[in-house]
Amino acid sequence: MTKTRKYKQMKLIDNFNRVHDYLRISLTDKCNLNCIYCNPDHHIHFGFNNDKILSYEEILKIIRIFAGSLQFKKIRFTGGEPLVRRGVFDLFEKVKKIKDEFDIQFGITTNGTLLKGNALRLKNSGIEKLNISLDSLQREKFLKITGRDNLQDVLDAINESEAAGFNPVKINVVVIRNINDNEILDFVEFVKDRNLNIRFIEFMPFGNNQWQRDGFISYKEMKDIIESEYILNPLYSDVSDVAKDFSISGFKGKVSFVTSMSEHFCNTCSRLRISADGKMRVCLFSTGKEEINFKTLLRNNYSETEIIELVHSAIKYKWEKHPEPEELAKLEQNNMLTIGG
Ligand code: 5AD
Repeated sequence: MTKTRKYKQMKLIDNFNRVHDYLRISLTDKCNLNCIYCNPDHHIHFGFNNDKILSYEEILKIIRIFAGSLQFKKIRFTGGEPLVRRGVFDLFEKVKKIKDEFDIQFGITTNGTLLKGNALRLKNSGIEKLNISLDSLQREKFLKITGRDNLQDVLDAINESEAAGFNPVKINVVVIRNINDNEILDFVEFVKDRNLNIRFIEFMPFGNNQWQRDGFISYKEMKDIIESEYILNPLYSDVSDVAKDFSISGFKGKVSFVTSMSEHFCNTCSRLRISADGKMRVCLFSTGKEEINFKTLLRNNYSETEIIELVHSAIKYKWEKHPEPEELAKLEQNNMLTIGG
């Protein structure tokens, strides 16, 4: 059997026996917000030129390879902010066909500022899963964190998405001490009568975000704050799910924690990432040594079989777990804007 045929229709498994079936594709490195934990320098970020990023046609080709030959089950579009890219809803409509053909689930993570007026269109496209980032329920603080006075737009987008039938709409809150930790209970109350899942995310270090132990609040501490007022009942979650989920009796909404730092979930990691300019990353924190570039491969007419083989080789570079937070904070080249979370 030739080497290339060996990989045809084979699941993507790394050296630690982790099956990879979840791809996150960044559609753009541009964002209309400047969040302190993501783009803290408040540099206005003009992003890559259009020919530096994957075209929609190339993205659809990649999706077909991952959904078909590599047997992926989940794909999520991220950014930057995915909805700032022109024509993005047409892409979402096109993936519906692939979703039906391959039984694959699509999602997006968005800051919600451009979603108002489009939630139903999104729901009727191929996108089933919707995560909206919201770090404060207070107008002034939202402005301080994001650099833009857009709280009301995001709240309207959440209402509209809930009404459109996303089940549930997930709300991502990055919790930072002395910034928004005093709103944890308000966020819990926010989901009381609504089909929303509030997800408190541990603040992660990236080379550029001045991560400090002082700003970090662990899952345990957040949970203690909530348990001073409510009883959290643990819910079963899938092993590949990164969140710890809880219900509160009498609450329609659910509460979750994403414990990337205090209890990392590397041992069940099933994720790969592709940046807007086509680079594949095997870990959110990888420094890119293993990187393959889909833009280069597709523009040089590599065959699907050759591409699959390169992906199988790259996954062997995936480390067992990501380094400790203080080490991660030193990795200058990591930037959330280009890898999209
Ligand atoms: N730590 C934790 N989460 C982050 N996100 C962006 N930067 C960080 C960070 N430093 C989150 C965003 C969004 C998702 C894409 O990643 O809030 O919900």
